[in-house]
Amino acid sequence: MKPGITLIKSRRSNVGDEEEGIAAGNLPTPPRKECWWSLGLLLKAAAALLILMAGVLIGLAASASLSCYYVEGSGKQAADARRGSGGGGEPNRRDDDGGGSSPLSFQRFVQPHPPWGHPMTDEELFWRASMSPRVDEYPYQRVPKVAFLFLTRGPLPFAPLWERFFRGHEGLYSVYVHALPEYRLNVSSTSSPFHGRQIPSGDVSWGSITLVDAEKRLLANALLDFSNERFVLVSESCVPVYNFPTVYEYLVNSAHSHVESYNIDVPQCAGRYNPRMAPDVMEEQWRKGSEWFELSRGLAADIVADRRYYAIFRKHCTPSCYPDEHYIPTYLHLRHGARNANRTVTWVDWSRGGPHPARFGKASVTREFVQAIRNNGTRCAYNGKPTNVCYLFARKFAPSALAPLLNLSTTLLDF
Ligand SMILES: *[C@@H]1O[C@H](CO)[C@@H](O)[C@H](O)[C@H]1NC(C)=O
Ligand SMILES: *[C@@H]1O[C@H](CO)[C@@H](O)[C@H](O)[C@H]1NC(C)=O
Ligand SMILES: *[C@@H]1O[C@H](CO)[C@@H](O)[C@H](O)[C@H]1NC(C)=O
Ligand SMILES: *[C@@H]1O[C@H](CO)[C@@H](O)[C@H](O)[C@H]1NC(C)=O
Repeated sequence: MKPGITLIKSRRSNVGDEEEGIAAGNLPTPPRKECWWSLGLLLKAAAALLILMAGVLIGLAASASLSCYYVEGSGKQAADARRGSGGGGEPNRRDDDGGGSSPLSFQRFVQPHPPWGHPMTDEELFWRASMSPRVDEYPYQRVPKVAFLFLTRGPLPFAPLWERFFRGHEGLYSVYVHALPEYRLNVSSTSSPFHGRQIPSGDVSWGSITLVDAEKRLLANALLDFSNERFVLVSESCVPVYNFPTVYEYLVNSAHSHVESYNIDVPQCAGRYNPRMAPDVMEEQWRKGSEWFELSRGLAADIVADRRYYAIFRKHCTPSCYPDEHYIPTYLHLRHGARNANRTVTWVDWSRGGPHPARFGKASVTREFVQAIRNNGTRCAYNGKPTNVCYLFARKFAPSALAPLLNLSTTLLDF
């Protein structure tokens, strides 16, 4: 308490000094006649000051026990908070750069960086990620970024191709990797866009709602960075077929999100509708589409926030209904139909039939093949106008396709 009083005292005397300085410098010396009057005033002021100080001392003495408790209490809270975050595994939180030393640092809040060992549960994460600012202008220089959400079981065989794709475009993209919980992505080079980008994950089994959970986890982690504007889901067998500037311009300037959405009367589509979903989801509102989406920030936040339709799909869309092919297309049709292009930007070949699409290895990857994916004469709509550029990414490729694709990257793909 002593330093506090000293501080108040010295501040007060500083203020006094200033006033004296002003008075001495700017005002003419008062005439003798007013001297007695001034002295009286001075005495009165001194008496008032004495009473004030006495009051302050009594007040301090009375509140001494109270402030003791307060200090103790806040110290305990701070220690608890430290234990909480330390135990959850945010080791670099306090010595982070970029003004990130305070838990409420603005930089840290709008642009959280790795390591991703945040201790939030899915419920906590989705709640936090669903928040959107209501002020239209950003109080910082915001450059929109494209978030690439890699959904994989384990290794990323095409990481070298993606690294080439991202090279030189730092600040315009961010990468998030959701792998099986026991898998550790081994990226030795700290300059790799994949370094330290693995997010806390959960178990995923093909065709179940856990796949939707993983997608929401990727979206939610990416939403924490307020600069992320577009969100692309890609798999370990997925590759880019245009260079980064083309992909970036295409997505950031698109008025629509790209989620395939259709309803045809076949067992694998309309046949998967469960009448128990009514009246929330009616038969004519049922939609199907490829899992590999591209979403704007607004739609991504709404999907992370949705609990109503998610609960219905969790309960009533079980094999042979696959939530990853129906939940997002149906949800968007119900809530944001006009904001969806209803087509995917990720090419895939289903022409061979069966439950899985065709997979292409070394022998298939020729210049002509990749050229046909980029543009085979098919036209699609982009911002209401026809274009030949319909697909930005393609799947599925076997790891053996890496060498020929790297070969094509400098020529045809141009990156
Ligand atoms: C990670 O990869 C590097 C080189 O690519 C290798 O030397 C290292 O042993 C790997 N670490 C693990 C844990 O697999
Ligand atoms: C996509 O489908 C919705 C209906 O769900 C429709 O309102 C919208 O206009 C379609 N989008 C485009 C770009 O045609
Ligand atoms: C172009 O590709 C699309 C999508 O794979 C396919 O449906 C279409 O038949 C192809 N067109 C030609 C002319 O090959
Ligand atoms: C890469 O391209 C060169 C020349 O175009 C060719 O000779 C070589 O076989 C290609 N390598 C692979 C792995 O496709």
